[in-house]
Formats: sequence, C-alpha cells, structure tokens
Amino acid sequence: MAAELIDGKEIARKKQDRIDAEVQKLKAEGVTPGLAVILTGDNQASRTYVNNKQKTCNKLGMYSMLIELPESVSEQELIRRITELNKSDEIHGILVQLPLPSHINEKAIIETISPEKDVDGFHPINIGRMMTAQDAYIPCTPAGIIEMLESIGADIAGKHVVVIGRSNIVGKPAGQLFLNKDATVTYCHSKTANLKEYTKRADILVAAAGKANLITEDHVKHGAIVIDVGMNRNAEGKLCGDVDFETVKHIAGYITPVPGGVGPMTITMLMHNTLKAAKYSISKI
Ligand code: GUN
Repeated sequence: MAAELIDGKEIARKKQDRIDAEVQKLKAEGVTPGLAVILTGDNQASRTYVNNKQKTCNKLGMYSMLIELPESVSEQELIRRITELNKSDEIHGILVQLPLPSHINEKAIIETISPEKDVDGFHPINIGRMMTAQDAYIPCTPAGIIEMLESIGADIAGKHVVVIGRSNIVGKPAGQLFLNKDATVTYCHSKTANLKEYTKRADILVAAAGKANLITEDHVKHGAIVIDVGMNRNAEGKLCGDVDFETVKHIAGYITPVPGGVGPMTITMLMHNTLKAAKYSISKI
C-alpha cells in the first residue's frame, strides 16, 4: 500500500481528550455543557447515530437529553419543543436528527432552533456566517474533514480540492470551508459529465456522494489526499465508503478508511460545537 492511512479514530480520540479537559474546567466553574437531541420516528440508522452522540456526550462529562417523538408528531408540536429548549438554561446545543417525517417542513424546523444553540450549523444564520468567514457553528462532518487534514499537516491554500456531492450537510459546506482556506474548489455531483476528468486533477478529493465504489483507481491522481465520507452498505451488508479502498490505496498519498475515518470525527466535532455553545452561554452572563 502506497498511501498513508489517516486514522480518524486516533485523531478523534486526541481531540476528545482536549474537549474532555475543557469540559472539566467548565464544570468546575458550575456549567455542564448540555446537548438535546430530538429523534422523530423509527429510522434505525438515525437511532444508531443518536445513541452514539449520547454515548460520546456522557463519556466527555456532558449532559445529554434525548427527546423521542413519534413519526406522527405535528410540525407545531416539534416547534413547541424546540422553542422550550431554546429557553432552557441547562441546554446549550440542540440537534434535530434528520431526515424528518415527510409531512414536516425541514427548513421551518431548522430555522426554529436558536442560532446560538445550532450545534449542527444548519441554520441560515450560521451558514451565512460561515460563507463570510465569520465565527459560526460549522457543520460537523466538514469541520471534521478540515481537522483531519490539519492533523496530518496538509497544506490547503492553493491546492485543487474536488468535492463530490452537494448536500447541505456535507458537500456544500465542505467546499466553502476549503475556499475559506484559499483552496481552488470544484464541486461535482450526480449530474456531472465525465467525473474522472475532474477527480483526476484533485490534490484533495472529498467523496460525499453516497454511492459505494464510485471512486476507483482511475479517478485519482498519484499522491492525492482522498477523504471518503461515504457510509454505504454493500451486498453483504458490510459498511463501505464511496471509494474503492483496495485499489485507490495504491495510488493515493493519504486515504481515510471506512469505518474509522470521517465518522468518528463528525461526532467529535459535535462535541466541540456543544462545548463552544456552553462557553458562549457564560460569555453572555
Ligand atoms: N442526519 C445525517 N447526518 C446528520 C447530521 O449531521 N445532523 C443531523 N441533525 N441529522 C443528520
């Protein structure tokens, strides 16, 4: 294998140690960072993600509150619950797990969360702040990608970054963060013609398309950094990314595995944002 592995688990562990120390300091001052997670319906994948978020919160000494609501919950009730959490002194971060049931307007729900407690960084105020390079809550997966690259000492300024995927959660904000760091950014997506023509020119390739084995060895430039955001299940039910790891590892300079790459970083950056929200709440007193 030519590529060096970027060990997301290890980078996440070190970052969590630093967060843990800051949480202890804050607790000594009488503030316990608190995260509320709202889970609607019965989506098994969502439940697993939410359980992991809560476990990590508790491990780092933070307070976690889980609000479970049925698939049939009304938009009005969801808005009422968020409004209550916006006012709560013990909750610093609010996360509404997506996707929401189809009868609920996702945009209206996201805009109900106070921008000061929006630890997902999905509120238009935080997106606008991020776009204009102001202090903001940064969406957790893109923030985790940048953290990983910084931990291996990667240069971003002047590099050509190709992002595959244009979701509001990953692709769009990831590209914006790279632009803020002076990279040249190309977005590709499901309608891109001749994907390879673009990906072959990437110094840093971010695959966030949600399609197993989309990226093979002939998509990658020798020595490129390949970040795999995919979380797919293959025919045998095994977790796999968007990158064909076994072939691309011979071409890339650095590569993230799935699992154990971006995933642990996402949850860690949620903890980082929750700590930031708790610190912000005391700065206001
Ligand atoms: N569903 C999938 N990823 C995410 C995420 O980062 N935040 C929320 N709230 N829901 C998600």
